Amino acid sequence: MARYNFDEVVDRRHSDCLKYGVLQDRWGRTDLLPLWVADMDFRTPDFILDAIRQRLDHGILGYTASDSRWKPAIMGWLKEHHNFEVALHEITFIPGIVRGIAFVLQAFTEPGDKVLVFDPVYHPFFLVPQHSGRQLVRHKLVQADGQYVIDFPQLDKDLEDVKVLVLSNPHNPGGRVWTADELQQIASLAEKHRTLVISDEIHADLTWDPYRHIPYATVSDEARRHSITFGSPSKAFNTPGIVSSYSIVPNGTIRRKLNAYLASGEFDEGNMFAQLVTAEAYLHGEEWLKEAKQYIAGNIGYVEQFFSNNLPQIRPMRPQASFLVFLDCSGLGLNHEQLLDLFIDKAHLALDDGEKFGPSGQHFMRLNVATPRSVLQQALQQLKDAIDHYL
Ligand SMILES: Cc1ncc(COP(=O)(O)O)c(C=O)c1O
Repeated sequence: MARYNFDEVVDRRHSDCLKYGVLQDRWGRTDLLPLWVADMDFRTPDFILDAIRQRLDHGILGYTASDSRWKPAIMGWLKEHHNFEVALHEITFIPGIVRGIAFVLQAFTEPGDKVLVFDPVYHPFFLVPQHSGRQLVRHKLVQADGQYVIDFPQLDKDLEDVKVLVLSNPHNPGGRVWTADELQQIASLAEKHRTLVISDEIHADLTWDPYRHIPYATVSDEARRHSITFGSPSKAFNTPGIVSSYSIVPNGTIRRKLNAYLASGEFDEGNMFAQLVTAEAYLHGEEWLKEAKQYIAGNIGYVEQFFSNNLPQIRPMRPQASFLVFLDCSGLGLNHEQLLDLFIDKAHLALDDGEKFGPSGQHFMRLNVATPRSVLQQALQQLKDAIDHYL
């Protein structure tokens, strides 16, 4: 029997949450139902909130030492859930994965060096290199049977002289769970081109049956040797506001270089809740996550049914992982401005438009389904009404 209530609608307005807080600035109006930024509308689980409250009740917000449960909790979770064996000394705190990417670029590359990202991809992957004067190389993903796949001969060419490849494993926004074979091929090419691979595994715990997340560092000796893995419980347990992530670097030379950079600015120190929340999530989160995943999987099924029954012009790319559904809207026959007008001014929805994730995202909209079913139903009905009325 379900213990948690994911149908509860929590009013997030006026909580300074990003999802509502920037509607006027980014969309030019506030009367929108937002299903964009990748956090959940579900209440963060009580066992996490209680642990934070208990810490607060102590009454002193002084300097904090590392939570002794933190590294063992990460090791236990990764072993049990992803068959990823990690040693204590391989783990280091990082204050967010996007920042982690920036730190790696600072520590391992120079301005003008090449950084490769897939296209489309989570936008900070290319914004961070661009903003720090690195040369961006976009490897265009191709679509096969409604899913993104890698064109390996092209990737081989694209990796020429590339210093760092930033990999979303699983992939955001397409939701691909890369197979062991795909990851091994990436690893062989990275090794050939002497490329450092950052594997961002933030969506790993939200992988849908029958797919299984495969940690990049586990696919071959090469992958283990040339990779930095980033992880966090923030997507799966809805804690991104706490800002708590970690790096795993098996290669001692790479680890020492990264950790020296992190230590130089005390970037490897979290706030007093950061490690606490990760430890709580990984030590006590099993049951909550199971139920949350069931609910979200139901939402993904609902979205697929809705579009196939009501709006077949829009084709959702079925995510193999994550609560993000990339909607292929090319069947509507609209240009970019018309598509935005439909979603924003006609349907009154705030979604991430696909072009935000790179040129290949054209004609897509990204829908976040980590929300109560009633909210999702409302949003899709608004979209259907707008299309029926205006197109
Ligand atoms: C692939 C990916 N990496 C990183 C992040 C953000 O991580 P952080 O908040 O730790 O910087 C997101 C958030 O949507 C994401 O989708």
